[in-house]
Formats: sequence, C-alpha cells, structure tokens
Amino acid sequence: MLADAIIEYQQRVDAQLKQHLSGLDDHAATLKAAMTHGALIGGKRIRPFLVYSVGTMLNVPLHKLDACAAAIECIHAYSLIHDDLPAMDDDHLRRGQPTVHIAFDEASAILAGDALQTLAFDILSQPIEGLTAQQQLKLVATLAKASGYQGMCGGQAIDLASEGKRIDLATLTRLHNKKTGALIRCAVEMALICTDASDKDSAAMLEYADAIGLAFQVQDDILDITATTEELGKPQGSDTQSDKSTFPQLLGLEGAQETAQQLVEDALSALKTLPYNSQLIADFARYIIERRV
Ligand code: IPE
Ligand code: IPE
Ligand code: MG
Ligand code: MG
Ligand code: MG
Repeated sequence: MLADAIIEYQQRVDAQLKQHLSGLDDHAATLKAAMTHGALIGGKRIRPFLVYSVGTMLNVPLHKLDACAAAIECIHAYSLIHDDLPAMDDDHLRRGQPTVHIAFDEASAILAGDALQTLAFDILSQPIEGLTAQQQLKLVATLAKASGYQGMCGGQAIDLASEGKRIDLATLTRLHNKKTGALIRCAVEMALICTDASDKDSAAMLEYADAIGLAFQVQDDILDITATTEELGKPQGSDTQSDKSTFPQLLGLEGAQETAQQLVEDALSALKTLPYNSQLIADFARYIIERRV
C-alpha cells in the first residue's frame, strides 16, 4: 500500500541520513547542527521514495539504493535551505520549523547548504556494494547535472528572474521542469543506472518521471494558494507575496488543476507500456496531485 511504502522508505532514508550526519565530527558544531536541522526535521522524502520504489520495481535490492536515496535528499535539503534565504524566497517557516537562517543565521544556512551538497557527492563516491565504479561515476554525473546549471540551479535562476513578470507557458514549463522536475527525473534515472532496463522501458519510466515532476511543482503552486500554513508547514501565499510566476497565476486555479490532472494521466499512460508491476508508482502519481502538503 502506498501509505505504508511512503513511511517505510522515509524511515529507511532517515536512518541513512542520520548515520551520515552523526558520523561527522564536531569541529564545526553549529554548521553540523544547521545541516541536521535542514536535512533531518520532517520532509516527505519523495525523491528517495522514487529511488526506492522504482528500484524495487526493477528488482534492485534496497541496500544498493541507499546511497542514491540519501544523496538526492541531501541535494534537495540544500536546495530548500538556500531557497528560503532572504536573497531568494525569504521564507521563515519550513516543515513546520523556523528555516535554517532563522534558527541559526544566514552564514550558517549558506554553509549548511554547501556542505549538504558536497556530502551528497561524498556519499555517492564511497564504494557501494553491488555497483561498479562505472555505475557510481554515472550516478555522480547524473546527480550533478540535475542539481546544477542544467537543472535545479538553472531553474531557480529563471524563477527569480521571472518574479514580477508575466512569462509565457513555455518559459514557465521550462522553469518548473528545471527547478523541480530535474531532481525528480534524476531519482528515476538513478534507479535505472543501478540496473539494466531496456531502452524502451527506461524511456517510458523517464516519461513518467517528467510528467510527475512537472505535476509536483504545479501542485506546489496550487497549494501555495489553497492550503493553510499549518497544513503546509511553510508560509501560505509566499508565491503571491513575491509575485512569482506560477501555473495558477498564468492559467488560473482551475487551469492549473486541469494541467496537473492531465500530467498525471500522461504519467499513468507511460506506465501502461511497462512489463513490471507499476501499481505503487501509479498510486504515487495520483498522490502527487491529491496531497495537501
Ligand atoms: C518543496 O519540495 C520544494 C519543491 C520542489 C516544490 P517538497 O514538497 O518535496 O518538500 P519536503 O521535502 O517534503 O519538505
Ligand atoms: C523551490 O520551489 C524549488 C527548489 C528548487 C527548492 P518553491 O520555492 O516553490 O518551493 P517552496 O514552495 O518554497 O517549498
Ligand atoms: Mg523558490
Ligand atoms: Mg520557496
Ligand atoms: Mg512553492
């Protein structure tokens, strides 16, 4: 069942993250505490969920996926810490807690993001039982591309440059595909690197990933309007306050909801071609737009 699998994989990646963070010595204790605050308190862990669930569907044992799950969550946690900084979205609440620069200070938040980013690649570079060096190098390159200029950071730059402007649907789609879609696609790509699915099946799974990646950010934009701060654990109305370019701003709330629905339909059609039991990740696609947090 989806709810059980979500909890199982959350607990699994949390144990991994705890191990990696508690293994750091205490020479910069405030930085370590800031990293722990940003990475360990709350979070849905949807990118690790995708690594584990797609990997499991492809018969990859969970222990081979642990490093990928922890590494991608480190990148995600870093992206949120920086996203909340005054120079970016200037938000004070994340996962129901003060954001890292509020709980600590701006310098600690910048460094915590930096150190979580490098920790991700440190984790992926340690020997992983059952994977070849070539596979690990591919994992490093894939996560680097998805996180940097061509992926998340590039998307964040377009997001900030689009504040207070009216951009067209193609630009907004590119923005969302990069800032959020790239890491979600990367979670599926990493699972694929750990095994040897056919090109046709891999293409279908990446089609699924791209559709849910975009749907995920469209739903995030919708929730910024329709959910409460208490539900979200982050400030409701943050996008409106910063005059962000979002799907509801461009298409209206109903238009954005229809787009999200259509993207989930696209994701489900891609799965229909697969010779695997894709029930869990199909349920996950529906969850993406049904979630309230
Ligand atoms: C929030 O990501 C930022 C986006 C990319 C939309 P999540 O909604 O995955 O945040 P957590 O990790 O569950 O807090
Ligand atoms: C952030 O998008 C995407 C990232 C790369 C972190 P948002 O700015 O919409 O995320 P939230 O709403 O603050 O979580
Ligand atoms: Mg942002
Ligand atoms: Mg934000
Ligand atoms: Mg948002």
